[in-house]
Amino acid sequence: MTSKPTLLDAAGKVAFVTGAQGGIGKACVDMFLTAGASVVATGRRAVANDDARVLKLSLDVTDETQVADAVAKAKDRFGAIDYLVHMAGMVGKGRIDEMPLTDWHTVVNTNLTSAFLLMKHAYPLLRKPGGSVVLCGSSNGANGGSYLSGAAYASSKAALVNLTRYAAKEWAPDGIRVNILSPGPVDTPMLDRLSDAQHDGLKAQLPLGRYATADECAGGVMFLCSVHAASMTGTNMNISSGLVLDR
Ligand SMILES: NC(=O)c1ccc[n+]([C@@H]2O[C@H](COP(=O)([O-])OP(=O)(O)OC[C@H]3O[C@@H](n4cnc5c(N)ncnc54)[C@H](OP(=O)(O)O)[C@@H]3O)[C@@H](O)[C@H]2O)c1
Repeated sequence: MTSKPTLLDAAGKVAFVTGAQGGIGKACVDMFLTAGASVVATGRRAVANDDARVLKLSLDVTDETQVADAVAKAKDRFGAIDYLVHMAGMVGKGRIDEMPLTDWHTVVNTNLTSAFLLMKHAYPLLRKPGGSVVLCGSSNGANGGSYLSGAAYASSKAALVNLTRYAAKEWAPDGIRVNILSPGPVDTPMLDRLSDAQHDGLKAQLPLGRYATADECAGGVMFLCSVHAASMTGTNMNISSGLVLDR
């Protein structure tokens, strides 16, 4: 008789999650806890979670000193990081000719440079067989997006895909796998900025006719961290309700 399949057995493991108070980040924290992990839950806003296995840290992912400090605190408390899950991110808006340079830098630093900083500082704690990094892209990184999220968002999300590929090759000898999740529209606070008409227009572009949920995205993260994905590295998981089909 075969044993019951489980998506992720994370007993004794440690997950470091950014954007842990956001829609997808919070779902990841909850699923890691259910899977038996301890969690370093980091957020710019205070993280609301009273589970004893959660180390709550304030972290602005664009600040290298704060990133190094958060990783040091994770080391002090848990001694290692098994899963680095970077869900913090932000959209921009507007056409290229309307976008201030400061807005460009803010979006690129928040989405892309942050990933470099987190990976740089977490590497010594991740470096072991079973180490897993999951970054967060977007369908905008594949199809170019639009003024609704802006050029810096689409560009930074596309660059994260190649950072994933780069790190997958560099870190494979260490036993660290690096993958990226690329959602289409997900029903989280990030979409609250859209009008009803914009929601209708977006849904009309989705072959499945529905937004993904935060739990579906977190489920993808659990899979990528699990033994079921032991031969997957450098991959880009498409959770776009059919929006992105050709790549
Ligand atoms: N929702 C979608 O339709 C969608 C589609 C494709 C990709 N994604 C990606 O999915 C990821 C998670 O987004 P979500 O949908 O869960 O949206 P969300 O609920 O808005 O969560 C985003 C989180 O990122 C945090 N954040 C932003 N800038 C930060 C910074 N400098 N330092 C630390 N944290 C920061 C936010 O914290 P604060 O609350 O403190 O601002 C927030 O908790 C993002 O990378 C996003 O680009 C989302």
